[in-house]
Amino acid sequence: MSYQSIQHVLKTAKSGTVVTIKGWVRTKRESKNAVFIALNDGSTINTIQAVAEAGQLPDETLKLITTGACLAITGTIVESQGAGQAIELKLDTVHVYGPADPEKYPLQPKRHSLEFLREIAHLRPRTNTFSAILRVRHALAFAVHSYFNDNGFFYLNTPIITASDAEGAGEMFRVTTLDATKPPLSDDGKVDYTQDFFGRETNLTVSGQLEGELGAMALGKIYTFGPTFRAENSNTTRHLAEFWMIEPEMAFFELEDNMNLAEDFVKTVIRYALQHCADDLAFLDNRLKEEEKNKKKEEQSELGLLDKLQFVISNEFERLTYTEAVKILVNSKPAKKGQFQYEVSWGVDLQSEHERYLVEKHFKKPVILTNYPRDIKAFYMKQDEESDAAPGRTVRAMDVLFPGIGEIIGGSQREDDYEKLTARMQEVGIDPEALWWYLDTRRFGSAPHAGFGLGFERLVLFVTGMGNIRDVIPFPRAPKTAEF
Ligand code: 4AD
Ligand code: MG
Repeated sequence: MSYQSIQHVLKTAKSGTVVTIKGWVRTKRESKNAVFIALNDGSTINTIQAVAEAGQLPDETLKLITTGACLAITGTIVESQGAGQAIELKLDTVHVYGPADPEKYPLQPKRHSLEFLREIAHLRPRTNTFSAILRVRHALAFAVHSYFNDNGFFYLNTPIITASDAEGAGEMFRVTTLDATKPPLSDDGKVDYTQDFFGRETNLTVSGQLEGELGAMALGKIYTFGPTFRAENSNTTRHLAEFWMIEPEMAFFELEDNMNLAEDFVKTVIRYALQHCADDLAFLDNRLKEEEKNKKKEEQSELGLLDKLQFVISNEFERLTYTEAVKILVNSKPAKKGQFQYEVSWGVDLQSEHERYLVEKHFKKPVILTNYPRDIKAFYMKQDEESDAAPGRTVRAMDVLFPGIGEIIGGSQREDDYEKLTARMQEVGIDPEALWWYLDTRRFGSAPHAGFGLGFERLVLFVTGMGNIRDVIPFPRAPKTAEF
C-alpha cells in the first residue's frame, strides 16, 4: 500500500485528493455525529485529524482505535470544519496494524513528567516533546556534516577501542574478553593483558583527538563525529557516560583561527536548526514558556527559547583570558558575599557556578575563555611564552561557555614542538614511548595546528531548551542507567 508522510500531506494538501497516511493514534474523540482520530507519524510535530461519520466504522474496529494504536487511514482531503487545523481527512477506509490496549499502554494523552518518560524511554519518542527533540537532533547532526563538508573538512573515523589512556580526559571503560571471574595473572599477581583479545589493555575512547591530529597532519582539515565514553561517576544534568563528540582538527590553525571557526560553526548549525525545525522549535519554545510559569519570578529566564537562539547567532561571543575572567570573578558580588560554593583564585579549575556567573550575569552572552593555567589543562596544549599578564604559566586553551549549559566546547592550539611536548609529558607522568605514534607528527613535518571538541548533546540541550542531558539522547547511558 503506498502512503504519504503527514509532513508531505500537510505541505502539499489539495482539497479533494485521496491520500493514505500511516501512523500512531494520538487521540480519539467521539461525538454524536462523528469520530475524530488524530494521527501522528513522526514526520512532523503536527497531526492530521481523520473524521468518520457515526456508525461508519464497525464497533469492533472502533474499539481497537485508541491512543497508541497503529493505523493506516485512506481518505479525502477536505477543509477542516474545526479550529486548530487547516485540513482534515474524510475517512474512507481504516486498517488497524496494531492495537494498543488502553489498560496497559503507558502513554496517555496528558502531560507526563520527564522523570516518568525516562523510565519508558522505549516509548517516549512517541510524545510531542521527544519527537521534536529527536528531529532537532537529526537536523543539527546533518548541519554539522554539511558545515564541514562545505568548508573543506574531511570526515575522519577515529577508533572507538583504544589502547592509549594518556589523554587524561576522564575515567575509561575497559574493553576485554578475559573471564572476569578468573583472569590470567602474571607473576606479579596483576591481570595479564597480553593474553587478552588485543594483547594489551584496551578501553573505550574518551576522545578522537589524538588520532584526529594524525589526520589533520595529512589531510589538512578533518573532523570526527562519534561516540565517546567517560566512566566518571558524575550524576549531573550535563554529563553522560556515553555521548557524541564533534572534533575538528586543522593544520596551520592557531588559537585565534580556532576561536573563529568554533564561533562560526556553532552559529551556523543553530541557524540551520532555526530554519529547518521551525515547527518543532516553536513547540519547544511554548513548552519552555509553560515551564517557566511554574518558576519563581527571579528564576525565570529573561528570554524565551527562540529569542535566546536568535540572540546567540546575532551577537559576537565575548573573548577574554582566564586571567581576566578570574579578576572579574574575584571582584564579583557572589565572591565578596561568599555565595560561591567553591572559592576562586588564579590557578583553580573554574566550576560551573563560576562559568555561569560570567555568561549569565556578567556578560549575558556566550563567552570564550582562553589561555588557562597549564597545570589544569591537558599535556598537548601549546605552551604560552611566560608573560607578565598572568601570574603563572599558561597554555593556548579555549573553552566556549554557553548560558544555561556552561562549557559546550573545549579545545586548544596543540604543542607542535617535539622537545617541549615530550618534556611536558614527562612532567605530568606520561611515558612518551606509549604515544610514539603521536609524537612522530612532531618529528616529521610538524606544523602549528589546533582543534576543539563540541559535546553534541550539550548543543542539543541548548537548542531544545531542555534542562537535563538525559532527555536529548534517545537512550541515555549514565551511572546505573543502561536499560534500553
Ligand atoms: O573538554 P573535553 O574533555 O575536551 C576533549 O575531549 C578534547 N580532546 C577536545 C578537543 O580538543 N578535540 O570535552 C569536549 C566537550 C566538552 O566541552 C563538553 O561539551 C563535552 O565534550 N563533554 C561531555 N558531554 C556530555 N557528557 C560528558 N560526560 C562530557 N564530557 C565532555
Ligand atoms: Mg573541557
